Amino acid sequence: MAAGVFCMCGIVGIVGSNAVAERLVDALKRLEYRGYDSAGVATIHNGAMDRRRAEGKLFNLEKRLDAEPLPGNTGIAHTRWATHGVPNVTNAHPHFVDGVAVVHNGIIENFSELRDELTAEGAVFTTQTDTEVVAHLMAKYLREGVEPRAAMLRMLNRVSGAYALVVMLKSDPGTLMAARSGPPLAIGYGRGEMFLGSDAIALSPFTNEIAYLVDGDWAIVTRDGAEILDYAGNPVERPRQISQTTAYVVDKGNHRHFMEKEIYEQPEVISHALSHYVDFASNTVGDNAAAIDFKSVSGLAISACGTAYLAGLVGKYWFERYARLPVEIDVASEFRYREMPLSPSQAALFISQSGETADTLASLRYCKDNGLKIGAVVNVKESTIARESDAIFPIMAGPEIGVASTKAFTCQLAVLASLALGAGKARGTITPEQEKQMVRHLAEMPRIMSRVLNLIEPQMESLSRELSKCRDVLYLGRGTSFPLAMEGALKLKEISYIHAEGYAAGELKHGPIALIDENMPVIVIAPYDRFFEKTVSNMQEVAARGGRIIFITDEAGAAASKLPTMATIVLPNVDEIIAPMIFSLPIQLLAYHTAVFMGTDVDQPRNLAKSVTVE
Ligand code: G6P
Repeated sequence: MAAGVFCMCGIVGIVGSNAVAERLVDALKRLEYRGYDSAGVATIHNGAMDRRRAEGKLFNLEKRLDAEPLPGNTGIAHTRWATHGVPNVTNAHPHFVDGVAVVHNGIIENFSELRDELTAEGAVFTTQTDTEVVAHLMAKYLREGVEPRAAMLRMLNRVSGAYALVVMLKSDPGTLMAARSGPPLAIGYGRGEMFLGSDAIALSPFTNEIAYLVDGDWAIVTRDGAEILDYAGNPVERPRQISQTTAYVVDKGNHRHFMEKEIYEQPEVISHALSHYVDFASNTVGDNAAAIDFKSVSGLAISACGTAYLAGLVGKYWFERYARLPVEIDVASEFRYREMPLSPSQAALFISQSGETADTLASLRYCKDNGLKIGAVVNVKESTIARESDAIFPIMAGPEIGVASTKAFTCQLAVLASLALGAGKARGTITPEQEKQMVRHLAEMPRIMSRVLNLIEPQMESLSRELSKCRDVLYLGRGTSFPLAMEGALKLKEISYIHAEGYAAGELKHGPIALIDENMPVIVIAPYDRFFEKTVSNMQEVAARGGRIIFITDEAGAAASKLPTMATIVLPNVDEIIAPMIFSLPIQLLAYHTAVFMGTDVDQPRNLAKSVTVE
C-alpha cells in the first residue's frame, strides 16, 4: 500500500437546533482515547462552511475556537491518530473540497488509485490523507449534477477499505450523511436534534437512545430522524437501544492521573466483576461463567492484542490446569493470518477492553467462519466484538481512560479465572471442594488488593526514582508470572519510554543473560509457588553477573531467599489463583511512578491510542 496519512480516530456529528461547536468538542473529549495527534471541527452557518483545526491534543483546538468561535447548528468533528506521515494541521480533519466536508475513521485502501484517477481529471489534492479522495469524489459527482444521496451512494461504491465516515454538504445545512464499513458508528436520537459518533460514550451527554450502523449501512440524518440504507440503496431497520454508558462521568476524582485513579479502583471493580460470575454465599461459580458449554468443547482458541493478549496468556495456564482444556493462543494480528486449522468442536475467546480492536475482530470473524462458538471478554458491552459474539463475558471495569490498561487487565484476569473454574466444574476436572476453596480465595481478593495498594505505594514511589535512571529493564517470571513479566515490561515502556523486556525466567540463559551488568535492573516476579526454587536459581545467575535485582515476592518467598537484592517488595502470601492479580499491583505502580517521576504524559503516552481500529 502506498504511503499516506491514514487514521484511526474518533468522529462526531450533530444536526442541532442551536450552536454545535462547543458540544462537538465536548464529545471529542470522550473520544480522545482513540487518538490525540490532531483535532478539528467544521460547521455550517448562514450558508457558509468553516472549520478550525489544531495539531496535538484537544486543548489546542479549544484555544483556536476561543480565539475564533464557530457559529452554526450543524457540524462535524474529529480527533485523529495517524499511522503514517506527519500529524500536522493540513492533514487534520475535517477535509474540505468544494463545499464538501468529511471526517473519517479508518483506511481507504484504494485511495492511491482513486487519487491518480481524480488528479488526471484535474483535481488538486492538498493533503497526504487517504480521506481527501472521499471529499473529491463527492465534489465531483455533485458538480456533475448528481443529487446528494445518489452522490454518496456512488462514492461509497467506489471506495474500499475500513471506514466510518460523516459527510456534510454546504448546499444542505440540515443534513449529515454517514457510512460504516468496519469501524463503529452510532446514531444518537435527541429531541429535535440528531447525533452521530464513534461510540455511545461520545454521545452520552446528549442522548442515550442509540442505534448502531452495521457494516455496509449508510444513513441520512436530519434534525427529525435518520434513514438507514444499504449500499444498494434499500432501507434497513436497526434497533434503537438505551445505552448503558450514559451515566458515566469523565473525572479524575482526587487523583493526578486517570491511570492512578484506575489502579486504585481495582478492588472495587474486581469485586463487581467477580460477583457477576461467582456466588459468594455458596462459594460456587455461577451460570454467567457457563454461557459457553465448556463441557462439550475440544479446545479453546484465544486471541487478543496488547495487554488483553497477556491476560489471555495467563488464562491459558488456568484453562489448561483447572479445566484440562487445550488452549491455542496468539496475538490477533498473527492469529488472523495464520490460517490455522480450527474445528467447530472448539470454542474461541476474544479478549478486548474496547471491543473494537480491528485485528481481534478479524480473528473473531475467522473463527466464526470456521464454525466455532464465540465468547467475548469485553469491557464495552455494546462494542462490535460483543455484538458479534455468541456469549458476552463483561469484565465490568467501568470506563478505562488511561491508555495504559490497569483495571481492565486485572478484571480480565478475574473473569478468566472464573471462566476457567467454571470450565473445570463443567468438565469435572475440579472437585466441588476445590471449587469452593478457590472461589473463597477470589472473594478475598478485593480486600487483599486494597491492603497491598496501601502497603507498597511508598516503596514503589522511591524505587521509581532508581528505575527512571535506567535505559533498559528486564522482567522475569515463570508460570503465570511469565505473562505478568511481559505485562510489567509493556507498562513500563509504554508510559516511561524506558526500554523493557519481559522474559520467561528459564529463557534467561538462552540470550538475555548476555545483557546483564550493573546498569540493568532485573525485576523478578516470584510468588512462593511451585516454580519458586527454579526462579531463584535464575536470580542467582543474574546476581553472579553483577545484575541488580528487584525482587517482587511474598512473605514466604522473602523468607526463603537469601540473595542480595536492590529492593525486595514483599506482598502477603496468597493462593496461586489470585496471585497474578495481586502481583499486577506492584508492576502497575512501579511503571506509573516512574513515568510520573520522568514527567511523561502518563494518561496519553506518545504515539499510542486506547482503541486501535486499524490493522
Ligand atoms: C492498545 C492499547 C492497549 C490495549 C490494546 C488492545 O494498544 O493501548 O492498552 O491493550 O490496544 O486493546 P483492547 O481494547 O482490544 O483491549
